[in-house]
Amino acid sequence: MAIPVRTLKTLGVERIIITNAAGSTRPEMGPGSLMMIADHINFSAQNPLIGANDDRFGDRFFDMSDAWNSELRAALAAVAKAEGIDLHSGVYLQVAGPNFETPAEVRMFAAFGADAIGMSTVPECLVAHHAGMKVVGISVITNLAAGIASHALSHEETISEANKAYEDMKRLLTRFLADLS
Ligand code: HPA
Repeated sequence: MAIPVRTLKTLGVERIIITNAAGSTRPEMGPGSLMMIADHINFSAQNPLIGANDDRFGDRFFDMSDAWNSELRAALAAVAKAEGIDLHSGVYLQVAGPNFETPAEVRMFAAFGADAIGMSTVPECLVAHHAGMKVVGISVITNLAAGIASHALSHEETISEANKAYEDMKRLLTRFLADLS
């Protein structure tokens, strides 16, 4: 993940929008909802920055207090409000996957403070933030997480439910990008 994100940085990209599909631990934030990522929990046991630090991009030890950039989040929330889009805000937790979680894991993650769970996104954020890029992210909620959903999860469901968010996502990103530029 370091190579593509650092390539963008080297080309002059200063702000990055990361999107993903995720399962929700909040029953009121169901399939088709959009969640702005306010912060994350790296539960993947992986980190793309392990190994020698590349000082051209950033420091070895770096702060994560505003990794999900507060200015961009405020701007995104303002766009959602102006467009009448219900944009949730919450903590995204990354697992390694590839399996979906067990119900017990989901209960634990919810107790940790996770609002949405997925298998991506944190590496991109880490590399981009390390390199000084401003990061903003949106999770498309495709399902209630295991044990909260009343049925077994599948990749097919993830794909078909993501389409429910298509129109809102399109409007949100189109206006956000127009405002940024
Ligand atoms: N868990 C992990 N990743 C996911 C999920 C989920 O419930 N839904 C979509 N991606």
